[in-house]
Amino acid sequence: MTRKCILVPKRDGERVRAELISKGILDAGRKIGSDDRLLFIPILTDKYEGYEVTEADLEHQEHIPTDYRELLDIQEEFKQELPTSFDVIGDVAIIKLPDEVMRFKHQIGEAMMSVNRSLRTVMMDSGVKGDFRIRELERIAGEGGSETIHKEFGVRMITDPSKVYFNPRLATERSRIASLVKEGEIIIDMFAGVSPFGLVISKTSRPGVVYSIDLNPDAEGFVRRNMELNHIENIVPITGNAREMIKVLPEADRVIMNLPQIADEFLTDALSGTKINGMIHLHKVIERSELDHFEEKMMKDAVSLGYEISIDNITELKTYSPTMSVYVFDIRKVK
Ligand SMILES: C[S@@+](CC[C@H](N)C(=O)[O-])C[C@H]1O[C@@H](n2cnc3c(N)ncnc32)[C@H](O)[C@@H]1O
Repeated sequence: MTRKCILVPKRDGERVRAELISKGILDAGRKIGSDDRLLFIPILTDKYEGYEVTEADLEHQEHIPTDYRELLDIQEEFKQELPTSFDVIGDVAIIKLPDEVMRFKHQIGEAMMSVNRSLRTVMMDSGVKGDFRIRELERIAGEGGSETIHKEFGVRMITDPSKVYFNPRLATERSRIASLVKEGEIIIDMFAGVSPFGLVISKTSRPGVVYSIDLNPDAEGFVRRNMELNHIENIVPITGNAREMIKVLPEADRVIMNLPQIADEFLTDALSGTKINGMIHLHKVIERSELDHFEEKMMKDAVSLGYEISIDNITELKTYSPTMSVYVFDIRKVK
């Protein structure tokens, strides 16, 4: 059966195909045909400015790509450098690109959008910076800014990764902690960001109050907007240094420490603000080979400060590098 297609000189093929993908008018159900000079690119519209439309017998395309890398017309050596995964926060995709493929950044963004129709925009991430761990972002496809609404377990979270750190990969961990919360608990989230832990806990369990602390002054505004959006009243957003703030708050039944690079440096502060029998969830990046040593050190340090702790659970949350992982330690304050 013949299909509608446009005749495109081979040298323009890559650019025109990317344009068609980004406009959603590439007919992905047919293969691109060719003769010695021209490509026959199947389209879903009746005309395409600058190119002659014709009908041609094009082979059926069995497979609809779901991996953006399949849509990229770049040499194999560059394809090898492309990341296999990226973060999606709401309708914003965030990808880190190595220097080798930087010149294809717009094509990469368009390819990502064409395999994931729910994306509004693709941002390139040049790294997390500063104490606030916010990202330097550049739009490489789509439209609009990086503010978005992320949905997790029925909770809507307004966030902007260029202003406040947000980790979409912690959904299971947030749900796990929420499931442990008992009615009326006093909870302190020491490094809360836009308060995803507090929001999931408040929406799915029945805490008394969640104090959401963050050093980043932009976080508080997002927490307030998120409380309103989800009709939640028992979160108290606080801007400040958790080390100081925890001293002036009531003792907690549960403390969340999601600052994986250095959370252990705040463990003494967390212990001083936790009730006897209270629980501390500490997230920490460590060398996998150092796990036993890290656990022993935490126990010893606690004793030297006059506390006694038991580590009730250790779970590996994700791989961080070939030798390191992010772990969560559930630490009970015994004495
Ligand atoms: C890894 S992020 C956690 C974000 C959030 N829990 C999430 O799941 O998306 C760590 C947060 O801690 C904040 N932070 C860093 N040092 C802090 C401190 N001393 N006191 C309070 N917040 C701090 C940063 O601004 C950042 O928002």
